[in-house]
Amino acid sequence: MARQYLDIPVAPADLAFGLMADFDADPHPHKVSLIAGAYRDENGLPWVLPSVKEAKAYLEKNPNHEYLGIAGSPTFIKHAQSLIFGVNLSETIKTHIASIQTVSGTGANHMAALFLAKHLRPQRVFIPSPTWVNHESIWTMAGVPHEEYPYYSSDTHSVDMGGMLNTLETKAELNDVVILQACAHNPTGVDLSKAQWEELVHVIKRKNLFVVFDSAYQGFATGDVDGDAWAVRYFVEQLILNAESDATHPGLCIAQSFSKNFGLYGERIGAFHLVVPRHFSSQGAQSELMAIARSEYSNPPRFGTSIVQTVLGDDHLRSQWQEDLNTMSARIKKMRHELRRRLEKLGTAGDWAHIESQIGMFSYTGLSRQQVERLRNEFHIYLLPSGRVSICGLNEGNVDYVARAIGEVVGSE
Ligand SMILES: Cc1ncc(COP(=O)(O)O)c(C=O)c1O
Repeated sequence: MARQYLDIPVAPADLAFGLMADFDADPHPHKVSLIAGAYRDENGLPWVLPSVKEAKAYLEKNPNHEYLGIAGSPTFIKHAQSLIFGVNLSETIKTHIASIQTVSGTGANHMAALFLAKHLRPQRVFIPSPTWVNHESIWTMAGVPHEEYPYYSSDTHSVDMGGMLNTLETKAELNDVVILQACAHNPTGVDLSKAQWEELVHVIKRKNLFVVFDSAYQGFATGDVDGDAWAVRYFVEQLILNAESDATHPGLCIAQSFSKNFGLYGERIGAFHLVVPRHFSSQGAQSELMAIARSEYSNPPRFGTSIVQTVLGDDHLRSQWQEDLNTMSARIKKMRHELRRRLEKLGTAGDWAHIESQIGMFSYTGLSRQQVERLRNEFHIYLLPSGRVSICGLNEGNVDYVARAIGEVVGSE
C-alpha cells in the first residue's frame, strides 16, 4: 500500500495576532496599537487590578497546586452563577443549571458548540454580522454550518433590528442556535435596547430557537455588573421561569469569560452554564459536560480561578473589584469622549457621535479599509481592517496624534 503523507495546506494566519506581531516589529517611536482586546492604563501599560493583586498576595501565603475536579472549583462555579444570573435567580433555578469551569470565554463557547452539536443537533447556528471572529471558527470545528444574521447598520450606527428579526423569522428552524452577545458587542460596541431584547425574545420563544449568550464583558462594559447581565437574566425569566406549560422552550446557555472584567487574560478563566427547561433535571447534562471536559483537558486550571473566587468571596476585595471596574469603564468612556471631541474640533468630515455612544472595549469607527491602511502605513497606527479600534489603546499621550491622523485620512468638512 502507498504510504500516506499529511499534505496539509497552510491555514491563513489569525488577523489580529498577525497585526500585533507587525506592531511589535515596527520601530516607529509614535506607533499606536488599537488592535488588542485587552485593557491598558493611562500610560498605555497592562494593568493588574488592585483587587487581583491583593488576592494574589493572599494566595501566595496559602498555596495550592493540586488538581481541580473535572467540573472545576465548586466555589468558583457558585460565584460565576451568582454573577451572571444574580443571587436570587441563580437560587431559584439552581436545579436546572448545569455549569462547568472552562478554558476562558473561548473554551466556554467551544463547550457550547460541542455539547449542542451532539445533543440539540441544530441545522444551523446563526451568528451576528459582524461578530467576534472566533464564533464562526468554533462552530465550524464542531461541524455545525453557520449563517449570518444582520446585526449592525453602518448607516444609522445602530442595531439592524429589522434585518435581524427578519432573518430569524424566515430562515431559522426549530432548535437552531442563535449566538447573542450579552453586552458591549464585539466589534461594534452597539447593544440592543431593553425594548429590542423584549421584541427578540418573542421570536426566539415562538420559533423555539436555542440561544447561546456570549458574555465576555460583564462589569467591564459599564461598571454595572447587574446592568450588563440584564439581557441574560431577562431571557432566563422569559424562556425558563415564565414558560407556560411543559411543552416548553428547550433552554439556553451562557459562555462566561473572566478575562476582561478581572484583567486576567492569560489565566484563562471562564464558565459554561446550561439552563435546562423547568421540568428537566440538569444532572444528565452536567455529566455530559464533564465527559467532554475529561476527554479534552481533564480538569481546568486552578490559579486564576482561585484569584476570582478569593475576590468575589471577600466583602473588602469585592468592593475593591467594583472600584476597579469603575476605573476601567470610566477611562474608556473618557477616551471615547476625548477622541470624538478632537475629531469634531478638527472639523473631520462626518458624524462622530457614535464613538461616544457605543460602549465597551471597541468602537466601530466606520473607517474604510483604505483609510485603515493609510493609518498604518503613514502614521504607524494599527487597527483591524474592519475599522474596529480598541479604545483601551488610547490615552492622553496619544489621543491627539490618533485624532489628527484620522483627520488626515478622512479629510475635513
Ligand atoms: C465576544 C467575545 N466572546 C468571547 C471572547 C473570549 O475571550 P477569552 O477566551 O479571552 O475569555 C472574546 C474576547 O475577545 C469576545 O470578544
